[in-house]
Amino acid sequence: MTHFEPALRDRHGRRFSYLRLSITDVCNFRCNYCLPDGYQKTAGPEPLQLAEIEQVIGSFARLGTRKIRITGGEPSVRRDVTDVIRVAANTPGIEQVAITTNGYKLAALVDDWAAAGLQQVNLSIDSLDAQRFEDITGYKHLDRILAGLDRALELGLKVKVNAVLLKGFQQNELGEFLDWVKHKPVAVRFIELMQTGDQPVFFSENHVRAEAIRQQLIDSGWSEKARGLHDGPAQEFEHPQYAGRIGLIAPYSKDFCSSCNRLRISSMGKLHLCLFGDQGHDLRPLLQSQNDGSQLDQALLSLLGMKTETHYLHDGDTGATRHFAMLGG
Ligand code: 5AD
Ligand code: SF4
Repeated sequence: MTHFEPALRDRHGRRFSYLRLSITDVCNFRCNYCLPDGYQKTAGPEPLQLAEIEQVIGSFARLGTRKIRITGGEPSVRRDVTDVIRVAANTPGIEQVAITTNGYKLAALVDDWAAAGLQQVNLSIDSLDAQRFEDITGYKHLDRILAGLDRALELGLKVKVNAVLLKGFQQNELGEFLDWVKHKPVAVRFIELMQTGDQPVFFSENHVRAEAIRQQLIDSGWSEKARGLHDGPAQEFEHPQYAGRIGLIAPYSKDFCSSCNRLRISSMGKLHLCLFGDQGHDLRPLLQSQNDGSQLDQALLSLLGMKTETHYLHDGDTGATRHFAMLGG
């Protein structure tokens, strides 16, 4: 990314050049830590339409956003997901377009996504064992997801894999992931389970700290990469004999929030200053087609002044986030 100073900044010296844009809260998986009973439709507004999405992206781009990640729920349940990618990629100022997906449509759609301008895919794969994968997500076809991943690599996309750390991970999954990245040029990131409003019991039974894995990596020859100025909160590790990389995302670690470089928009058009912070600030009234966008720009600039320095997860305060399908993580 070019080095520059985005207009969007907060009172704590952080600059925001990265937007996570959720385009639906619907998901077809039932990950046990997120939507164990599957997606439940609630009454409420429809998700943003393509024209509204275009306005949001335009405004963020004018204020210095350079990277857009499209998230869900599961973004590919939307029929116009490829159009969203195209709109983002064609917006002046946007240099990188990424998507976070559970991968169930990846093999079918990734060629179209790449042609529309997508550069990066983040895939959620919590286990490389088909049975355990199904136990966690309720989805049987890990092989299809892995075929989609290989196709994404063939097309030259950058691929990252997210795996949530659940109890037993280090014993059951870690070795398999390490073997896998020996020859796969992907970055696998282990994400420490975060508490959300819907799952206090699951959280207390399954939360394990990323620290133990960090030690195992270092003991087996992985070294931590220095963090660049514009890097997000993942700590990255590399190993001379491995094609892939490993990352740790440890939201409970000290200073996690100081490297925050991202803002979030929910599928209903609310700005969320923190994944855990707030109810969201509704931007929809500003997304009418007769507006030239300057009102939206002004609103975004002033809302950023309200961003707090850190989340309050340590105090068990999960904010308004019931589960990640609301905001795409
Ligand atoms: N804690 C950590 N990661 C989570 N994800 C979903 N819910 C949680 C949680 N409570 C992950 C998904 C996906 C990404 C968007 O967020 O597995 O990879
Ligand atoms: Fe799983 Fe993501 Fe769907 Fe939640 S939104 S159930 S984490 S695939």
